[in-house]
Amino acid sequence: MSNLIVLGAQWGDEGKGKIVDLFSEKFDAVARYQGGHNAGHTVFIGSQKFVLKLIPSGILRPGVLAVIGNGVVIDPAALLEEMSGLEAAGVDVKSQLKISNRAHVIFPFHRTIEKISEGRENRIPIGTTSRGIGPAYEDKIARRGIRVADLVDIEFEGLYRALAEDKQLIANAFQISERVNFDEILSQYKRLADQMRPLTCDTSHLLNQMIREGKSVLFEGAQGTMLDIDFGTYPFVTSSSATAGGACTGTGVPPNKIDGIIGVSKAYITRVGAGPFPSEDQTEAGEKIRRAGNEYGSVTGRPRRCGWFDVPLLRYTAEVNGFDSLIITKLDVLDDLKEIPVCVAYEVDDKVITYMPASTRRMEAIKPVFEYLPGWRTSTQGVTSLTQLPSAAQRYLRFLEEKTGVEIGSVSNGPERSETMIVPGSKLEKLLD
Ligand code: IMP
Repeated sequence: MSNLIVLGAQWGDEGKGKIVDLFSEKFDAVARYQGGHNAGHTVFIGSQKFVLKLIPSGILRPGVLAVIGNGVVIDPAALLEEMSGLEAAGVDVKSQLKISNRAHVIFPFHRTIEKISEGRENRIPIGTTSRGIGPAYEDKIARRGIRVADLVDIEFEGLYRALAEDKQLIANAFQISERVNFDEILSQYKRLADQMRPLTCDTSHLLNQMIREGKSVLFEGAQGTMLDIDFGTYPFVTSSSATAGGACTGTGVPPNKIDGIIGVSKAYITRVGAGPFPSEDQTEAGEKIRRAGNEYGSVTGRPRRCGWFDVPLLRYTAEVNGFDSLIITKLDVLDDLKEIPVCVAYEVDDKVITYMPASTRRMEAIKPVFEYLPGWRTSTQGVTSLTQLPSAAQRYLRFLEEKTGVEIGSVSNGPERSETMIVPGSKLEKLLD
């Protein structure tokens, strides 16, 4: 069995949660490698709806180990709340969850800093999830962050006081009047640490050991490639490496142990938060997609911006990740459309290009070049094989495959585990074998 990375090919919310949940029965462990409780993976099992923010969706499969890797930033209160919700639903969280002792810790003052930073005058807000993710990663990179290993150690108080002093000095220098009760946070975190301690370990060693024993690991990306700190629409990105490379740095499993990389993309595209969005549709058609696809953020509830499948973007994300196969989700959302626009090129500064520009100004200046494909105007719900799809839907999928240069290995046409078709003979099918 292979070790696979499953990650978002767009701006997140591609439906990775459902896919990872579905595939996880074939794996021994599912590992998250970046982000924090800014991610929201919605999984439906029968009538039960689970929104997982921090814990990998593998937790919903009895016997599968759910690993939070070192590349993740953890808000202990959010983690324990999520654990309680799952336990109440009968999930055996304590025996299935492992937390990296090298993951970094989010504190309440990270959220305060983010709020001040996003709200300050003359700043173009990123439209973050306000979870303190960016400021926690800032502390990590600045080498003053606190890791889980430190949180659960007897030295925690000393390290915490040094970090608190640092924050207080900055607040004083900038005459920030917001009050933070550092002592109260300290006692709260000592209590939370006691609950986390039994679950923490060197997850890099654990995962590598499992792989050596012939077990298989599914690496679950959060957010999406276009929100990656290096390759996304910077600065309108998240603060971690959401691309395939992040799976190795964020878990401590080396690249030569990865057998396949699977991209997940909607049959259209969405984005939450601010930033360039070349194929966005702000007309009634975009609104229709939002309604049909229930496109509202699973963490913040914000309406998602909607647009059309973007070929240059997908080719770009396929290149930086090395997708072996693509999973197209939410095909059924397009069921009612008479014709479907697909963005096939960009016009920037009077030139037609098919690559992703790096500069923010050029990204924002993109005018999409569309081709229009006929819709199928019939329900695809309940269809269980690609050959049973209406011919216009098959043509649409073939068009995406040809234009992006990546095989479509699977198509999802509903939220249920059963509403996912795997293309027979595809690379994906072989990787899952
Ligand atoms: P942050 O990750 O909270 O710092 O937010 C940075 C950007 O990433 C904002 O535009 C967020 O809306 C976006 N973002 C963060 N997490 C997700 C996610 O799981 N899905 C979609 N967008 C996300």
